[in-house]
Amino acid sequence: MSASSLHALAAALPEGLEPAIVREILIYSYYRDAELRGSNLIYRLLRILPDPESQTLLSEHLADETRHAWLWTERIRELGGAPLPIVDGYQVRIGRRAGVPRSPVELLALTVVVEQRALRRYQEHLKRRDVPERTLEVLRSVTKDEGWHIDWVRKKARELAADAGEPERFDELLEKYRGIDREVMAEIEDLERQLATAA
Ligand SMILES: [Fe+2]
Ligand SMILES: [Fe+2]
Repeated sequence: MSASSLHALAAALPEGLEPAIVREILIYSYYRDAELRGSNLIYRLLRILPDPESQTLLSEHLADETRHAWLWTERIRELGGAPLPIVDGYQVRIGRRAGVPRSPVELLALTVVVEQRALRRYQEHLKRRDVPERTLEVLRSVTKDEGWHIDWVRKKARELAADAGEPERFDELLEKYRGIDREVMAEIEDLERQLATAA
């Protein structure tokens, strides 16, 4: 996406918003989009992992991810905006390169990689200077849940891979998806640099 299409996106916002606020709304819209698409991964897992333990953990996990999406939506609303439609965010770019994961171990491995990335992005944002207090609150709240998400998904994936007689499969997939994640993040960081000067 170019700086000019960022302008086009921002044009959907009410007039008269300060450029700094527009930038915030854009960034939170990307975060919101990643949370919603992450929820979709969890939803797909709900349909293919029928055991009672997974069903329970996935239900709580899904509730957390949709709450995260809501917290960003609420934050955008407080700034006088509405969530912007994001069509080329992190998850879409990952999906384009990784294809559609079908097996449970593939989906779980992809979930671990995207959750770790989300956690890292939020932790980096927390360290920036001049972050509004309300944004810090949201960042702390969403970050708090990621630890248990990553732990249980990783454990389940290892268990399934071992049961299938392919204990190394999960680590191979992690490596594959991490490579894709690094490529995509290079693009996203480039986009964020443009964002810093656009709007
Ligand atoms: Fe989340
Ligand atoms: Fe999560």
